[in-house]
Amino acid sequence: MSDILQRYQAGPADLLQVLRQVQARFHHVPPWAIETLVKTWGLSYAAVRSVVSFYHFLSFEPRGRYSLYLSDSATDRMLGSEAILQRLSERLNVTPEQTRDDGLVSLHRTSCTGLCDQGPAGLINGRPLTRLTPRRADEVTDLIQSATPLEEWPADFFEVSNPVWRHNLTLQHPIAPGHAITRMLAVGPDAMLDELRASGLRGRGGAGFATWQKWQACRKAPGPRAITCNADEGEPGTFKDRMLLMQWAHELIEGMTLAALTVGATQGFLYVRGEYEFIEPHLRDVLQARRGQGLLGASVSGSGLAFDVTLHMGAGAYVCGEETALIESVEGKRGIPRTRPPFPVDRGYLGLPTVNNNVETFVQVAQIAVHGSNWFAAQGTGASRGTRILSVAGDVARPGLYEVPWGVTVAEVLADSGATDVQAVLVGGPSGKLIDASQLQRQISFEDLPTGGAFTVFNRSRDMVDVAAQYTRFFAHESCGFCTPCRVGCGQLVETAERLIGGHASASDINRLKETASLMQHHSHCGLGQTAAHPLLDVIQHFPDQIDRRLVPDEQAFDLDAATADMSFGVTADRTTDTHADMHANTPTLARRPA
Ligand SMILES: Cc1cc2nc3c(=O)[nH]c(=O)nc-3n(C[C@H](O)[C@H](O)[C@H](O)COP(=O)(O)O)c2cc1C
Ligand code: SF4
Repeated sequence: MSDILQRYQAGPADLLQVLRQVQARFHHVPPWAIETLVKTWGLSYAAVRSVVSFYHFLSFEPRGRYSLYLSDSATDRMLGSEAILQRLSERLNVTPEQTRDDGLVSLHRTSCTGLCDQGPAGLINGRPLTRLTPRRADEVTDLIQSATPLEEWPADFFEVSNPVWRHNLTLQHPIAPGHAITRMLAVGPDAMLDELRASGLRGRGGAGFATWQKWQACRKAPGPRAITCNADEGEPGTFKDRMLLMQWAHELIEGMTLAALTVGATQGFLYVRGEYEFIEPHLRDVLQARRGQGLLGASVSGSGLAFDVTLHMGAGAYVCGEETALIESVEGKRGIPRTRPPFPVDRGYLGLPTVNNNVETFVQVAQIAVHGSNWFAAQGTGASRGTRILSVAGDVARPGLYEVPWGVTVAEVLADSGATDVQAVLVGGPSGKLIDASQLQRQISFEDLPTGGAFTVFNRSRDMVDVAAQYTRFFAHESCGFCTPCRVGCGQLVETAERLIGGHASASDINRLKETASLMQHHSHCGLGQTAAHPLLDVIQHFPDQIDRRLVPDEQAFDLDAATADMSFGVTADRTTDTHADMHANTPTLARRPA
């Protein structure tokens, strides 16, 4: 692995990047590789092992030479992913979540891969497999059995399309590389901040913080400073950043560069989720091209100001989308969210004041620099200016990307995307808000229904309890285990959901679930735990019939079989151990005695 180490010069901050390469080459992280890292960088064994155990795509045990992950999001399931998984399992003779004895293939479920508009989807050795059908699954089986190199597989197996059904400000206005930088350098950082302020741009990653304020706070903090771009895009149902990374990377890097020139940062990091490894070569090409054009490097556009961007790939961990967890991950560590304050604008990457923004935010910054704040602010509502790119998936005729002005109603998006017989819409992914058919006139906006980009539709054939249970399993699987309310609470939520589905839950269980949810919301360390109960709570609120018809009286709500089948006491995947307990496959089912 000496050649791998030679490619990474940042020392321990490159630990995750090196481990990804080791995993890709040796199909696991062997003890001797850990030993090498310990000796080379003076790290403790525990430090290296804890990073391996944290990320889903790293493993101590060998995975297959063909490492197959099937996306297990609610929309993939709606498209038949479980049947595909079972078919692959039978024909390849490999048990899900395991590696076949001969080491040829391993098969795992994984959280949403960001391909919900073209599922059922999966990944094989980091490459995307889209639109899986039973027939395609059989073809995949044959190619694996015959050990055919991936390069010789039909190209359309890996095809990722980006259907954009509605273009508006952002997606109609590509920018020539360097154009926004030239404009910004002509007016200076103060004018850039004024322009952003006048545009009303708020972060597109979910929380909606005013971008100019974040930049100004960082600029005021003593330097040196850093920029991070959040391309983790792990919220199930969100895939708009995938499209931006594939087709708008110049604008994205341009936006990061504007941030650097405005706040006075010299280093930037583009943190891309591991599931998007297939976009990595393109991003490296764009970065290299911009260096060649003098748009990155020692003197950006001849300004005398230095700035460059390093690409950091994740390795399968939704929580790394939380900005402080992301910064930990960029530093090569486990993605455990930090205590805030201090916020990243004061103490971020390696303690430096850091601006972190979403991909779409940076793209829109570049466009505002070129076209001006009035152009941008002319659309939207009072507190939500401009446009927003929605990732529309689920029960719609035209899944894909829709750039809409903020303030558009849910009904308008449904009409655009060809949705009929709508039962529910999940706005903003499982951490967002689930609404029912009586609320379709509500607006997509920070004032009413904010969203980080996900817009998932469920028709009346869908069992909303099943849907909520699936999202709850997702949170339990992705909980980093750092704080008790989330670690234990997620397990309890899953347990109640399973009992509900199995017909072993009573009204008392629902009351206890609400208490657990309240505790998690108020006492969890980060947004994951604070929002993990949203899907179940929303189904309880909006679809009481689907809950009530499953409830049994208290005295019948004890499932002896389940109680004795699993004695894990509701404790979820523990990322502090060496194994990835898999909530997808093995949910805790310990039944509780009725009160
Ligand atoms: C569990 C969790 C996951 C998150 N995932 C993402 C993500 O994938 N992309 C993103 O931009 N923001 C994500 N966020 C929000 C970030 O913490 C942060 O607010 C955002 O990147 C700021 O960028 P913005 O101001 O441009 O929106 C997540 C937050 C939490 C709590
Ligand atoms: S809320 Fe969950 S994900 Fe966030 S720090 Fe606590 S355990 Fe980790």
